[in-house]
Amino acid sequence: PRTIFSGIQPTGIPHLGNYLGALRQWVKLQDEATPDTTLLYSLVDLHAITVRQDPNQLRQWKKESLAMLLAIGLDPNRSIIFHQSDVPAHAELMWILSCQASTGYLGRMTQWKDKTASAKENSEKLKLGLLSYPVLQAADVLVHRATHVPVGHDQAQHLEFAREVASGFNHVYGQDVLIQPETLISPAKRVMSLTDPAAKMSKSHPNARSRILLTDSTETIQSKIKAAVTDSIEGITYDPSSRPGVSNLIDIIYHTNDTSDYASQDELARDLASLSMRSLKTRTADAIDRVLEPIRARYSSLIGDESTLIDLAHTGAVRASDSASGTVARVRKAMGLS
Ligand code: TYM
Repeated sequence: PRTIFSGIQPTGIPHLGNYLGALRQWVKLQDEATPDTTLLYSLVDLHAITVRQDPNQLRQWKKESLAMLLAIGLDPNRSIIFHQSDVPAHAELMWILSCQASTGYLGRMTQWKDKTASAKENSEKLKLGLLSYPVLQAADVLVHRATHVPVGHDQAQHLEFAREVASGFNHVYGQDVLIQPETLISPAKRVMSLTDPAAKMSKSHPNARSRILLTDSTETIQSKIKAAVTDSIEGITYDPSSRPGVSNLIDIIYHTNDTSDYASQDELARDLASLSMRSLKTRTADAIDRVLEPIRARYSSLIGDESTLIDLAHTGAVRASDSASGTVARVRKAMGLS
């Protein structure tokens, strides 16, 4: 039997990178799952507070993110969908794993290094939660005994860390107390920013035109793609290192085309070779709109239904607590805490 777990920070409407890199895989795994597969998808609000959040904004984002997980096609009868902070076992296991995790390893992780590079001389401002962020992520996965974790490329290192923590823990307290999860990286593993194609598309980038939100209208998609940074080389070719902007658009067309008529991006690019930049952008915007249109429609009907969202969050929390309780009991017993 497989257990699938993944999470997303409720820090705004998810973008196209989140969708192609992770969320779409979540739905696919759900739809293809055999009856003995358990699926858990979490809105990781405790991860969201590693940077300061306005309480009302966070509440709103949690609600919007929940509505979006339903809008993309997650079925609450099949998948356990829940807010991380509703299940205290995540935080409990995190503390226990903190006593196992190496600060040296944590300090070498990409996300920590990126976020601290700019604050080098000011460690007073660097919060402990940012350093221990991967420990909480490890607890998320391990507390549910996940066997498979579908994510985008940027999370691979965090999951490597989770396996390391699990194996260290098991070495001390007994094999099989924790399960080492496998990372499932989706084919669209790194969707790039529209304004700076050398960087990944991200929720926190100050320029809102760098990303397509899953709620963006047809017109907004068209205007953002029209303004996307490309280059002035004649013709269309696929070469992510020398033509990152153009290649990102080709990637987007390639990955939004679910039935994939092409064996590779190169093959698709050969078909697009004679297009003008303008036509390539029209093709890209159309491809995105085709995928987002039904999501947008479902989202707008779900977001107004407050009582259903509250009920679903409650049911998800109960089922997720149930899923986590066995591991916590096992860990406590193995360590002499009970
Ligand atoms: P988050 O909220 O940043 O992103 C959610 C998912 O979207 C993927 N993703 C992308 N994929 C491709 N291209 C992009 N530009 C892009 N941007 C984001 C991410 O890889 C991720 O899969 N720490 C995690 C949340 C988390 C988690 C977990 C994930 C907490 N606990 C346990 C898996 C298992 C995060 O901040 O994801």
